[in-house]
Parts: sequence; structure tokens; C-alpha cells
Amino acid sequence: MVRGTLLLSLFAAATSAVTAKSVKRQIEKRELHARTIPGAYIIEFHEDADPTEVHKAYEEHAVKRRDLNYKLFKGTSIHFRDVETAEERALEIGNLNSVKHIYPVEHYERPHDEVIWRGNPGREYMQNRRRDVDPEDEDEFAPHLMTQVDRLRDEGFTGAGLKVAVIDTGIDYTHPALGGCFGRGCLVSYGMDFVPESVADVENPDNGPLDCDGHGTHVAGTIAAQSNPLGFEGGAPGVELGAYKVFGCSGGASTDILIASFNQAYEDGSDIISASIGGPNGWTNAPWASAVTRIMEKGVACLVAAGNEGETGIFYASSGSSAAGAMAVGSFEVTDIPIVLNQDTYTLDGSSQSEFGWHEGLPQAWADVSLPLYALSSDTEIPDDACDPLPADTPDLSHYIVLIRRGTCDFAEKAANVAAHGAQYVMFYNNEAGISDADASEVEAIQGAGMVTAEQGEFWISALHEGSEIVLHMSDPAQTDMVLSFHNNTAGGYASEFTTWGPTWDLNVKPQFSAPGGKILSTYPLHKGSYSVISGTSMATPLVAAAVALIAEARGTLDPVEIMNLLASTAKPQLFHDSVVAYDYLAPVAQQGSGIIQAYDAAYATVLLSTSSLAFNDSDHFVAQQSFKIRNTGSHGVTYQLSNVPASTAYTFLSGETVPDTFPNEMVQSGATLRFGCDRVVVPAGEEVEVTVEVTPPAQLDEARLPVWSGFIQLAGDDGSHFSVAYQGVSGSIKSVPVLQGAHNAIYVNGEADYANGNETYVLPEPHHVDPGTDRLPGIAIGLSMGSELVHVDLVPLSPVDPDLVYNFFGHETIGAAFFSPLLFNPRATIPSWWDGELDDDTFAPAGRYKWAVRALRIFGDPLNADDYEYAESEPFTIRYTESHAIEKKSVKKSGDKLAERLARLQNM
Ligand SMILES: *[C@@H]1O[C@H](CO)[C@@H](O)[C@H](O)[C@H]1NC(C)=O
Ligand SMILES: *[C@@H]1O[C@H](CO)[C@@H](O)[C@H](O)[C@H]1NC(C)=O
Ligand SMILES: *[C@@H]1O[C@H](CO)[C@@H](O)[C@H](O)[C@H]1NC(C)=O
Repeated sequence: MVRGTLLLSLFAAATSAVTAKSVKRQIEKRELHARTIPGAYIIEFHEDADPTEVHKAYEEHAVKRRDLNYKLFKGTSIHFRDVETAEERALEIGNLNSVKHIYPVEHYERPHDEVIWRGNPGREYMQNRRRDVDPEDEDEFAPHLMTQVDRLRDEGFTGAGLKVAVIDTGIDYTHPALGGCFGRGCLVSYGMDFVPESVADVENPDNGPLDCDGHGTHVAGTIAAQSNPLGFEGGAPGVELGAYKVFGCSGGASTDILIASFNQAYEDGSDIISASIGGPNGWTNAPWASAVTRIMEKGVACLVAAGNEGETGIFYASSGSSAAGAMAVGSFEVTDIPIVLNQDTYTLDGSSQSEFGWHEGLPQAWADVSLPLYALSSDTEIPDDACDPLPADTPDLSHYIVLIRRGTCDFAEKAANVAAHGAQYVMFYNNEAGISDADASEVEAIQGAGMVTAEQGEFWISALHEGSEIVLHMSDPAQTDMVLSFHNNTAGGYASEFTTWGPTWDLNVKPQFSAPGGKILSTYPLHKGSYSVISGTSMATPLVAAAVALIAEARGTLDPVEIMNLLASTAKPQLFHDSVVAYDYLAPVAQQGSGIIQAYDAAYATVLLSTSSLAFNDSDHFVAQQSFKIRNTGSHGVTYQLSNVPASTAYTFLSGETVPDTFPNEMVQSGATLRFGCDRVVVPAGEEVEVTVEVTPPAQLDEARLPVWSGFIQLAGDDGSHFSVAYQGVSGSIKSVPVLQGAHNAIYVNGEADYANGNETYVLPEPHHVDPGTDRLPGIAIGLSMGSELVHVDLVPLSPVDPDLVYNFFGHETIGAAFFSPLLFNPRATIPSWWDGELDDDTFAPAGRYKWAVRALRIFGDPLNADDYEYAESEPFTIRYTESHAIEKKSVKKSGDKLAERLARLQNM
């Protein structure tokens, strides 16, 4: 069980085996990883067990966190008062007859999505809208056009009668576009607040789960926003929304709350559950994941965001979405970037006023400013406009708004250079698509800053260059009208750079499919500006939830497996785009899944496939032949022509490297060869036909670099219908890939870890008086280049100790493991832990000289086979104790017993 691990915020050095880039990325990523909460456990009871036995067993040592008394999950979560003895007590409870499992409680960070734009708080630009949707209105919202949601909406489907639960930060149901109220008859009609922030929240549960963050409100709008002044709607505005608030105004969410919220949403009658939560992990057997799988098996579709860690490259699947049953959703970039701008006017050579859109920066004292524009350069491609002090002959700029191109130096530096010549107002024009915040507030003389688009700026510059005079008539940004415009997104229609790549560590296909998540306009809490544009797989997931509602309404079924298979078989695979240019080959399945969903095709397909994808595993576990079924529910027979369209093959490692490559992974155009039982398949009406597929992996790949190949089996029907099945396999042996980069001493001071040089001496404080925030503690940072399900961290004596204490564990001498060992279900990351001298049997190591020995289990390794572990050791170090530290000998066991106990525990894993 993980205990005493701290997040790294700084690392002083990198090991020689690793590039600095990968270490930095891994440390950054580590901060998003789920951590266990010391001393907290989820106990799951057997179906008809009497829980009183369990309650008796813990009540003396632990307090209850939460009852988990649900139809599909019976248990409780508890918190031991003494974290030092918690693991031992947890193991005792785990042995009770009534207990099915005991798991440590994990903690997830809040979702990290990029807010591109948000409105002005306090602006009154909405009137209350009635909750009705005019089926005559044509839907022109880009995310809907990209996914055929518009076509189902145009046919009048709205998801009416279906309940969609949003597990998130709550929903601002006071928003007029989200119904304006909470409870029966409202759009947000049900839900629960799992993280009440105040006594008032606890006493008034009917107040409902309000959102103070914004994330859940954005997600809710993507599903069901009502018509509003910005002219878009949610994908399924006829559904009822359930708000399950698992994130408070700050902090993360724990697995007991996630399990509770999913189960509560299920018991409250939700038809669909959407969760935009997770952290890098990739292991499918976590308790939250199995709770999700049970709910899916009961017929409720669960959609979970794939994650926003695309830059980390292949093999970085996230926690909840790794669940076998969950539909993991990746993100595509929207084709048109929505930008919401303030609207004011300008005059060109005294002509009549023209409108223009702009975005306020800081400061914003723009009320009633009417001044001519002044440009410093007529070059609309100047990279570093106003980055240097202006020439001495620059005129007095106090009677101008200075127009400056963005780039090279920051906004404040540019503003300071023009302020030196009297300027008080600056209007930046962008050097890329869209618009962003321009902050010049640190320059005292500046009264107003703002930004216009690149096109607007370029138009003005050329007019100025031709000698025209342009006067801007500005107004207070909190009072101006808003206009929505769209900007061509060159990466639009392709997978987002940030979308997390699978597969999972057991080589399952993740994500299942994708939807627009890059630069999505939706609702936002009123106090945060009412509307915003955000990017993340968090934004893609609720659109698929809405599509599932429309498809369920159109087809009259809620079967989540059927809908998942339909979405996958009708999704459109897309070419690879590296965020700068597109290539002429398909993006790997590990990035896009089956491609971007096509809701209309899924809703009206009369042919159903029995799977959403095929996984051929790696060379060690290669399953060359697989099959799937085609069921024709239509009234005419269809003949399908089968073909293979390979996607590009992505190498996990660069040549000679042992740490996975980052985005974009090196790709080669060498695909697998598929042989079908029959190239033409006749599927008579009302019948089901099995198709067998035999795969030959691509030739001439460097298997040591773990190439992940994939592609699509295409089925072209003689009735014009098209379906595809994504497939994926790995050449090489994932078990022989190194997982361990190294192990380093780390000193913990002020809550931060830093590498030690070895040979240091640490004076350890009294037991149970450890403060990792201030004490100077020894520890270890374990660098994992790939995930490892199980990592042992043992203390190896280098100075004489009582020989009775020493035993041999899988080949190294030790006096026991560190208290935080073993570390379970580890992502690929650097995992740091501090240490206060305590071992896994509650005793303290005698003063002396030691080193750490680390054994990390290879993927698909056997925990009982020493050969399946990789080994690394740290530099030596020395520990002493403060004089008042009486080394505890609570339960000194014979070394033979300790070894037997550890092996027995591994046997039960
Ligand atoms: C969007 O940009 C691309 C690439 O610059 C261009 O080919 C395309 O024509 C543009 N589309 C629109 C609608 O402006
Ligand atoms: C690959 O094979 C391993 C070992 O048999 C198995 O545990 C794993 O589930 C397989 N993966 C898939 C996707 O079938
Ligand atoms: C630590 O001490 C050992 C033995 O004296 C020496 O071989 C080793 O180089 C030292 N390590 C460091 C990092 O100073």
C-alpha cells in the first residue's frame, strides 16, 4: 500500500539513462496521478454478509468515512486513526469472512482542462429561456455537425425522457440556459452533493449540488444547454440532468466518493452516466473501474474521459476509462474555433461606423475611449513588435490607441515600451488563430489593454499603411454587446494533440472512440462569466453521452454494449495530424480509437457487429485468429466486401532508448496483413454470420522498440452501408521491456524531494512525530519507464546487524521492506517516497549504513517469480536516531517468518 509518498515539485538532476525531457515530463505527469490517502480503506462486504462483524473489527481503531450501501456495492470506507499500523489492521480486516476485498482509498486530482475563453462575470446578457426546443431550428453547432448530432436533432430527437448523470464539480443550475432551478420539473432535476462545503449545504440538501468551479457546468451544457443568446444548444436538450458533485471548490475526489456517486446515480435511475475524471494509470483492476463495469453490466452506459496527457505519448491510459466496460472517449479538435467578442465600432477616414469584435485584457478602463489607432510597424508579420525601446523620435502616444502585434516578448514588456512614450491604451492583434487574454496591468500608466484577431489587426495595419485614419470608439467591456464568431482551426477535424493515448498495460484498446473536445463553447457558472470555451477530453465525453441519449431514443434501446458497438463500427477514422500538419496516413487506434463518432449512422444502422474492436495482444500472447459476428436486423440481405486499411504503426521507444518516446511517437507505414475467412460475406435478413480474421503482424519492425500496429477492418455493403472494426496488436514482448530506469536516494526537506549524492547521514526523529514538510528525511525516488503493477522497496544492510533480522528476498539480503512497500498499480512516472526508519512489520531499522534495493514487476510478470522482476539499487546512506527515539521492537519476527509472510501475501495477489 502506498504511504508516505509525496509529490515531487522539483528534481535537481536526471540519471544518465534518461533524457532530461522525459524526467521533466514524468515529474509533471506525476502530479496528476491518483495517490492513496494514508490510513483510508474501502472495505467491500460479501453479498449477504452481516457487516456488524466488520464494524466491530474496526471501530476501536478507525472512524467511518462513508457507508457504501448500494445494490451493486456493499461496503464502507474507513480511516484508521494511526496510519502507521493501518496496513496491518487492514490486512486483518481483509481476512474476515464477511469481507470480499479491502482497497486503499485513492485520491484523484481535479480535471485539468484548458480554459480558452470565458465571459465577463456580472454581464447581463441572458434572459430566462423557456425549456422548449423548436425542432424546426437547424442545428449548426460545429461539434454537432462533426458528429452527425445535428442530423438527429433535425429529425426532432432530443433525448426526451432519459436521465443523464454528470459526475463532476456540480452544475450551476441557476444558469438560464441550464433551466434556472433544481429539482422536479427542472432541467437539472436530481443529483447529490458528496462534498458539502458548509453547514448550510449539509442542512439544506435540497439546494442541490451547485458548481463553484465551472467544469461541471460546461459539461452539463454540452449535454443539454437550452437555447441561449450565444446560439448553440446541448446535444440532447430534452434529457433530465443529474448533478453528482464529487469535487468541491478546491481539492480532488477520492475513490470511495466516486464509487458512491456512480452507484447513487445508478440507483437514482440514470440511463447514462458521464464522468470527465481520471489520472494516468492504465491498470484495469482498480476498485473504481470494477464498480463502473458492474453498472455497465446492468445496462447503464458509462462514458469516461480518456485523459489530457497526449503529449506524454503512447501507453499512458488513464484510471477510470481503463475499466473494461467503460467507453473511453478521446478528443478531436473542433473545425471552427468559437470566439466570443465584445462588439464596438470604428471609423475609417471619418466614414460611418463599422463594427469590430475585441476581447478585453487587463486593465480594462475602456469606457468612452475614442482615439485614433497608431501602429509602430506596417509589417503584419513582425515577430517582435514593440519588444525593444522605441526610437527617440516616436511621437507622443498619449492621444492614440497603440496597435501592437503579439509575439516574442510578453504583453507587459510591449506595453511598457509604448507607455514610455505616453501611451495609455494598447490594442494587441493576435499572431495566431483565435484570441487570448492580454495582461498589461503591471504597467502603471496603461489604462486599457485588449486584443483583436489577426485578421482584424492586419486589415487595420494595411489601412494605416495606406495613410488612412482609424478611430476606435470603445466602451466598458462589462456593458458591450457580445458577438460570436468562428475562426478556422487548421487542426480542426483531427485528433487533439492533448488527447491521451492507450493502450492499457494489458494491451486492451483505449480509447473506444473520439468526439470534439478541443475548443468547445458551452455554459459556465454565472459568477464566472456564464459561457466559456474549454479544451479537454472532459468536453468530448459529454457530447458522446448526449449522442448515446439521441441514439437510445431513436433506436428504442439503452443496451450500452449495443450502443458502444454501433458507435465504434460507424465512427470515422481520421488521418494523423501532429498539431502542425496532417499526414496522408491514418492516426493509430491508440490515439483515436475507432475515430470520430457518427451519431446518425449509429442510430439508423440495421447491421450490428458483436464487438467494438479486436486486440491481438503482443508477440508472447499473440492470438493470430479472432472472430466477430455481423447481425442483420434489416429486412434485406446485405453482402459485405471486407478489406483491411492499416493505420500507421507507432514505435513506443526511439532507437536505443528505454523510456517511451513523447508525442508524436515515431511512426512507420508498415501495417499488418489480414486474411478473412471469406472476403465477401452474405448476411441474410434476420441472420447472424461469423467472420474470422487471421492477422500477420507487419514485417521488418524493430521489435525491441515495441511497435504498436493497428488499423481498421472495413465492411462495404452492397446497399451502400459502411462499417469498420478497429484492431490493434503489439510486436515484441511487453514483458521483456525494461520497466525500471533506476532508484535514487532522495532527501525530503520542506515537503520536496531532491536527489542525494549518497553517503549522507540522516538523524531520524521520534516515531509518530515525523513531519515530512520540515524534517530532513531519507527516501527513494523510483523511476518507472513503463507501468509496474508491483514494486518492492527493501532495506539492505551494509554495516553489521543482528543476523537473525536478515533474510534473502528474491536474491538480495534485506532486513525488511520500507513501510510504504509494496507500491501497487504504478503508472509510468517517477515515484518518490520519504522514509522515517519504519519497516513493513512496524519495527524500526537499527541505526547503521544501508542501501535501497528495488524490485519492479515486469508487465504480465508473475509476482512469485524472481526472474519477472527488474532490480535496481540506490547509493548507500546512513541513519541515526535522535536520542529520545527508543527504537520500537513491537513485533520483531524471525527473518524466516517475515519472508514466509511476504510470499504468502504475494500468492494472494
Ligand atoms: C481553413 O484553413 C485551411 C488551412 O489554412 C484552408 O485550407 C481552408 O480553406 C480554410 N477554411 C476556411 C473555411 O477558411
Ligand atoms: C494479453 O494477454 C495477457 C496474458 O494472457 C492477458 O492477461 C491480457 O488480458 C491479454 N490482453 C488482451 C487485450 O486480450
Ligand atoms: C560513497 O562511499 C563509497 C565507499 O566509500 C564510495 O565508493 C562511493 O563513491 C561514495 N558515493 C558517493 C556518491 O560519494
